[in-house]
Amino acid sequence: MRRSGMSDMLDRLGGVRDVLRMTSGEVFRKHNDYLNPIVTMIVRFLGMNRRFVEARGIHLKDDSGRKYLDFLSGFGALNLGHEPPEVLQALRLVEESPNIMQASLNPFAAKLAEYLAEVTPGDLSRSFFCNSGAEAVEAALKLARAATGRRMLLFAEGAYHGKTFGALSVSGREKYKKPFAPLLPDTQAVPYGDLEALRKSLSNKTAAAFIVEPIQGENGVLVPPDGYLKGAEELCREFGTLLLVDEVQTGVGRTGKLFACEHEGVEPDVLILSKALGGGVMPIGAMVTTDIIWKKAYGSLETGLLHSSTFGGNSRACACGIATLRAVLSKNLPAKAAAAGRVLLKKARALTKRSTLLREVRGKGLLLGLVFVRVKGKSPLMEGAITLWVARQMFLRHGIVMAFTLNNLDVLRIAPPLNITQKHIEYFIDSLSDVLKSAEKLRALLLVGKEEQTYA
Ligand SMILES: Cc1ncc(COP(=O)(O)O)c(C=O)c1O
Repeated sequence: MRRSGMSDMLDRLGGVRDVLRMTSGEVFRKHNDYLNPIVTMIVRFLGMNRRFVEARGIHLKDDSGRKYLDFLSGFGALNLGHEPPEVLQALRLVEESPNIMQASLNPFAAKLAEYLAEVTPGDLSRSFFCNSGAEAVEAALKLARAATGRRMLLFAEGAYHGKTFGALSVSGREKYKKPFAPLLPDTQAVPYGDLEALRKSLSNKTAAAFIVEPIQGENGVLVPPDGYLKGAEELCREFGTLLLVDEVQTGVGRTGKLFACEHEGVEPDVLILSKALGGGVMPIGAMVTTDIIWKKAYGSLETGLLHSSTFGGNSRACACGIATLRAVLSKNLPAKAAAAGRVLLKKARALTKRSTLLREVRGKGLLLGLVFVRVKGKSPLMEGAITLWVARQMFLRHGIVMAFTLNNLDVLRIAPPLNITQKHIEYFIDSLSDVLKSAEKLRALLLVGKEEQTYA
């Protein structure tokens, strides 16, 4: 391209300042033309194609000045709410430090790893940093095969571990897997919550790992029976299989403990973290394991560089991780999430008595799911018809942001920031009650079908 052609193009496209002035219509058109048009369509259906210009804590504001409450929190990435000042402050502090300096040793990665060794359960002490949940899952699966010399990877039916090839191979929704076959060989699903089935699959001692979520967030916030994770830990120890606990969604205080596996005193062989660890400011993923397991997999000169990541452990992401852990712990947010979750759960459960569409409310801490009756119908849109409608009404009428879970479209997730107040809870419940009342008319229009699996 000639110089003058280049500067014309740069003038026409504009820069970041111009983006700040873009209208919601322009944003919509560019998404429709250059990004995923189906996502654009769903966002429009939900009524959420607004231009949000401010975000702080649980609050959002659009360019018309309308205010909203965020009960989705970036799918559980905003445990501290939007733009947490402590995390932004950490980012400012490292502004001048080199961000990427692979040929040396990053001090912020060192400190975040030290923090994780301190706050994670049991002997977990060695971290690997990456940039997302799926990448942390990949790292954990590879570690398990390398450390045990075994091949089989067990996972739970209905699980969601991400959409890269490895993570998808151990996830539970066929629809997401089918177009990409063949996925990883030597993977096997076991029913979630079923220790007998797990024992059977483990007993031939070929499984390198059993990967499991303490609560299946994307599978409709499905809570396993009490004692399930502890039982899985004992079985894995008995048969020499590594227990990989995926806390990408449940971690960093969300369910009322810093890590959900602590509810049953479980000490995973590998803990998988992401989402909220970056404080909603920087992307980060982490896999934390024990010294012994790490050394079995990567403990020699020959094996020490088998797994790595260019951006993993960069200064900015790690500084945000340190600030996030400090803020979550110093503000006692896990305990606050537990208390707020109890109130929210009780009040939302009371609404099931007055609604023929809301069947159940389940979850722990501030990871809750509103389970609606199942709609029969062949079209993929029918599957989530009720949840889409309720989310749209919650947003348009009451300014509350919500969304369904990826592996179960009958469930709307409630996952607000952990410092939610009583006032927000009351506003949410009043709004939900109002929307459920008007949703009753949907019942006549939709064929309501079979009940789905539940444990708690
Ligand atoms: C339990 C769990 N694991 C892994 C992932 C994948 O994380 P990411 O979207 O950052 O790849 C998710 C995302 O929702 C998740 O909920």
